[in-house]
Amino acid sequence: MLSPKSVLITGCNRGIGLEIVKQFLQLTEPPKFLFACCRNPVAATELNAIAESNPQVRVVELDVVKQDTIEKAKLLVASIVENEGLNLLINNSGVYVPIGLVDVTREEMKRHYEVNAVGPLMVTQAFLPLLKQAARQHPTDPLSCSKAGIINISSGTGSISENSTGGSYPSRTSKAALNMITSNLSLDLKVDGILCTAIHPGWVKTEMGGESALITTEESVKGIMSVLEKLQGEEGSGKFYHGFKGELIGW
Ligand SMILES: NC(=O)c1ccc[n+]([C@@H]2O[C@H](COP(=O)([O-])OP(=O)(O)OC[C@H]3O[C@@H](n4cnc5c(N)ncnc54)[C@H](OP(=O)(O)O)[C@@H]3O)[C@@H](O)[C@H]2O)c1
Repeated sequence: MLSPKSVLITGCNRGIGLEIVKQFLQLTEPPKFLFACCRNPVAATELNAIAESNPQVRVVELDVVKQDTIEKAKLLVASIVENEGLNLLINNSGVYVPIGLVDVTREEMKRHYEVNAVGPLMVTQAFLPLLKQAARQHPTDPLSCSKAGIINISSGTGSISENSTGGSYPSRTSKAALNMITSNLSLDLKVDGILCTAIHPGWVKTEMGGESALITTEESVKGIMSVLEKLQGEEGSGKFYHGFKGELIGW
């Protein structure tokens, strides 16, 4: 059963992140602490409404490209979870502009790398002591998202083996970098009892995915939650899943 005591999610003010918050609250055993991060808490109307009626939800300012906000969020989370640590970190925030070879710019390449790859790595680095603390609470348990895990919301566009159309240079390359970060983390953190896996949410109707997308946020996150539940033991780490289909994707 998926039952992490504490979860931190980035990019929760809209889209897939907001829906992940909602579906964690619907679990049989919802988290005791749900840190719903966003860049601008004051403007996060829907998220604030959820937090008002669910005391376990804390809206926390976190911009993945601003290190000071990451450090401040870490201190806040540490003061709340205390010795129990943080069970699950979901790096969800991301950007996507479909620019091809003719229009790609240095600025867009750098921006995508910062938000989609460097940001999640720096967030992970900051919260690592808390994830390790959570893993130490249950040293003999197999790897799982309830014990201690990092989930990187990636994209099918980051798969090199499944790239058949080209284009979208900033998105494809930055998500491929995130995939390598995921694989690397899974190797580095195995000894600490921390799982790390990447999930593609499907083509989802959000501001990013657009109206023509194939699935709703509810359908996408239902799939993601099923994958989170089934990730167990070393087999569940260092993988790249299609969340909606529940199948592995080639790197
Ligand atoms: N939708 C799809 O079809 C699709 C497909 C493949 C992968 N994905 C991945 O799924 C994840 C969620 O996407 P979505 O569809 O929900 O997109 P979305 O509706 O555009 O939401 C993106 C979220 O990321 C946040 N964000 C952007 N830059 C940030 C930063 N510097 N620091 C912190 N948060 C930041 C946004 O916050 P603001 O409101 O402040 O900008 C927003 O909360 C992304 O990683 C995306 O790459 C989505």
